[in-house]
Amino acid sequence: MAKMERGHNVLAWGWDILISVCATAAALYVPAHLVLGFESTTGLILPELIVTAVFVLDIGIRYRRSGPFGEDVGRGGTPRKGQQVAGAVIDIAAALPVYFILGNTPLMLLRLLKLGRVAQLMRRWRSHQIKRVNALRLAFFLYGMALSSHWIACGWIEIRGVEAGADRWTRYLEGLYWCVTTLSTVGYGDVAPENNLQRMYAMGVMMLGVGVYGFIIGTVSTILANLDPARVNYLQKMEQVGAFMSYRDLPNQLQQRIKDYYRYLWQQKLDHNEGAVLSGLPPSLGTEVTLFLKRDLLEHVPLFKDASEAFIREIALEMKSVVFMPGDYVIRAGDRGRDMYFVTRGTLEALSPDGTTVYSTMSKGDFFGEMALVFDQPRSASVRAIDYCDLYRLDRDLFDHVLTHFPDIAEKVKARAAERQRGQ
Ligand code: CMP
Repeated sequence: MAKMERGHNVLAWGWDILISVCATAAALYVPAHLVLGFESTTGLILPELIVTAVFVLDIGIRYRRSGPFGEDVGRGGTPRKGQQVAGAVIDIAAALPVYFILGNTPLMLLRLLKLGRVAQLMRRWRSHQIKRVNALRLAFFLYGMALSSHWIACGWIEIRGVEAGADRWTRYLEGLYWCVTTLSTVGYGDVAPENNLQRMYAMGVMMLGVGVYGFIIGTVSTILANLDPARVNYLQKMEQVGAFMSYRDLPNQLQQRIKDYYRYLWQQKLDHNEGAVLSGLPPSLGTEVTLFLKRDLLEHVPLFKDASEAFIREIALEMKSVVFMPGDYVIRAGDRGRDMYFVTRGTLEALSPDGTTVYSTMSKGDFFGEMALVFDQPRSASVRAIDYCDLYRLDRDLFDHVLTHFPDIAEKVKARAAERQRGQ
């Protein structure tokens, strides 16, 4: 809760939730009471007392400081005078103890005006939970559906009249049953309208049902599709790649390796287009995000752990992450050296040029490929990935930059290169 919002504190959130719970309870029990009535007349006293007290208190809190706890009342900042007056009228009307003054009367439905606060809370909640926006949208939609079904069922019970003998619960369930079958466009027809008013009501609900049905299908499918955009993205990419591979008739083994590669990227959450996200951010925020994304490099590679702030900003931020699959050659002996690598995940082996001797194995925190750059010579060994490896690549230009501008780091790299040369 604490990190939900800067301006809207925990108390204010708690109060808004309490108001929403009371408004929802009233929206359920008031119509139900009006059409079915409670067993005893005292049944409504307690909830009405609580709701009245909370709503009256809310008026005090809201208008003591032109908003709840001195904050926004409407969308986008301070409300205008007209909005404020309308808000006050609505709040006062919803807080009136109609039941205690006039007894059972449809005016009790004034309580429902307070549902505007639930909508406000939902909007605010959604804008602060961007990660769960789709799940929240689905929950709010279900909330709206449940309330509407309840009201439609109550309306049907009202115009249908009271069946003699049936208890309240059965009558309510009959109304709800009719509502659900009609609203969901199933319409078994076992509960048929008997007069013109009922026919008109039924037609209205059917029309609503068709609209709602289309809306549900559209909304729910969009929400479900968006619940896991990374997965949708991955599946789309796999389809594209699959079509390409079969169109170009790639060998099965190669196809499998390509699929494995994409699956690995997805599993490791490496397949996001970071560039597109970062380019939309201001430079300082972009740097912060990049540093966070490269924390595996900065935390696990000793050379970077002790490095200066200047080094990290100039070099670490520029390095690109690359993935190699089991059996892939990262470096082949004899090639020209264009870059060096840092290992953040996986294991690799350095092999003699003829591939018969394993010089050493390298894992998280190691670096390799520096000898060709330090001694300006062809690659002295081959380096092959044993399992999936996540590496960071430093190209020659950046490497030269390191050598000239960061002598302490250059010293360590050179010392390691010399040590390895002796070990060959
Ligand atoms: P380079 O010669 O550029 O390319 C192959 C790399 O394998 C080399 O740099 C070193 O980083 C690494 N390497 C070569 N020999 C050894 C060794 N004996 N032990 C560990 N690593 C080595």
